[in-house]
Amino acid sequence: MSFWIFVAVAIILYIVYKSLNARTPDGLKDVHTISSFHLFKSAIKKRCGTDQMYLDFQEYFERDGVVKLFIKGKWICLISDPIIVKNMLLRPDTFPKLDLKEYSPICSRHLGVNVVHSNGDIWKRYRRVCNPAFKIIPVHFFVETGLKLMNVLERIDNKPIEVMDLMQRFTLDALGKTAFGFDFNNLEDPNNPYVTTYNDLLKKLINCIIYLMKLLKININLLLLEKSNGDLLELMINACEDQNNANLTDVELRHNLSIFMFAGHETTADALSTLLYLLAVHKDIQQKAREEVMGILGDSSTPSAEQLKSLKYINMLIYENLRMYPSVPIFSLRKLSEDLKCKNSIIPAGTAIGIYPYGIHHSPTLWENPEKFIPERFENKNLENLEFYGFGGGSRMCLGNNFSLIEQRILYVNMNFHWLLIAYIKMD
Ligand code: HEM
Repeated sequence: MSFWIFVAVAIILYIVYKSLNARTPDGLKDVHTISSFHLFKSAIKKRCGTDQMYLDFQEYFERDGVVKLFIKGKWICLISDPIIVKNMLLRPDTFPKLDLKEYSPICSRHLGVNVVHSNGDIWKRYRRVCNPAFKIIPVHFFVETGLKLMNVLERIDNKPIEVMDLMQRFTLDALGKTAFGFDFNNLEDPNNPYVTTYNDLLKKLINCIIYLMKLLKININLLLLEKSNGDLLELMINACEDQNNANLTDVELRHNLSIFMFAGHETTADALSTLLYLLAVHKDIQQKAREEVMGILGDSSTPSAEQLKSLKYINMLIYENLRMYPSVPIFSLRKLSEDLKCKNSIIPAGTAIGIYPYGIHHSPTLWENPEKFIPERFENKNLENLEFYGFGGGSRMCLGNNFSLIEQRILYVNMNFHWLLIAYIKMD
């Protein structure tokens, strides 16, 4: 016990020392600071989510559209001003992604340069290679995985359900099959070596990316032998093997595959979990959604592409859920290549910037009753006219947004055939 007290005191002293020595650049003096002490205190109380940060500092996010934090010896500004955010997303060359090495050397070692973290010509090349694979989504894999999930649910007899765990198992299996043609079989056999390695490493490592790399190395070897799915992996491997058009090296392939796992697994699992939670506590909305599904699908649990498209209310639910609980509540950091004028300050060039969609999605000046779950607000609305950044924006918009939307719709349709289960799901 005394050892842990010693560690806690040492950490506090280190944070205080670092904070006192942090020289605030002139341009940042007028930007409100979320102190390191506040962050530490919130972490101890386990109230350190982006939602809590908004509650604690809403006044400053609303007034200035920006707050600052001092993390790992660096000032980071979080921007929640919708006009500035729009401008930043439309001008990726002026607001490029910060080099991953600068803020997370460990991640950088394992993820290298990839489509999420690169800029300029390298990013364009990666995006060009990956983009076509997301145009045709093998829907039947989602359906199959959704039905597997239903089998698992049926076997859980009147016991509490770990929603997040189940959704993570579902999305890992779905991503494995649709993107890499590989069945992790996490739903049916959560004790298989892939899954146990994953769980062990998740427990041991703060950063699970190292795990993903190990796992993917195994998978690439397996999949190179039997590639014929037309999936993302196949497309990327083809690009590597084409001598005349060597678009990706082996290392680039590995780095990009890793980032797909990272970008595509937890994000959709989070979205599905919060959506199920919202439906469990809003029975009237649940009923309305169910009526839509039953009306369009009848008693079939396998939706066609046309049927999926007509699920208008389900679509609204999905967007409203992502508004309230954006799976990516702070985007990957950018670096200012020129001074940035905010309402009450000028942030100097060189500063690291985190776009903070949570602040935009919950702003009472932008959304009526932002804390209320009202799917109808997305009815007949053009997303481009809304202050909605669930999937980012501009040319760096999420590459997997359609992939995830279809996955969510299918899972949701399947869930409708197990209605009572949803009704009893609870989350802390
Ligand atoms: C609910 C699910 C998802 C959400 C909410 C989400 C959200 C986002 C957001 C907000 C960004 C922009 C980040 C930024 O500008 O810094 C992004 C980028 C990206 N996402 Fe997703 N995402 C989801 C699912 C997926 C899936 C399933 C994949 C792939 C399998 C994926 C792959 C990517 C990639 C590659 C990028 C980088 C695009 C680029 O910079 O050109 N995402 N995502």
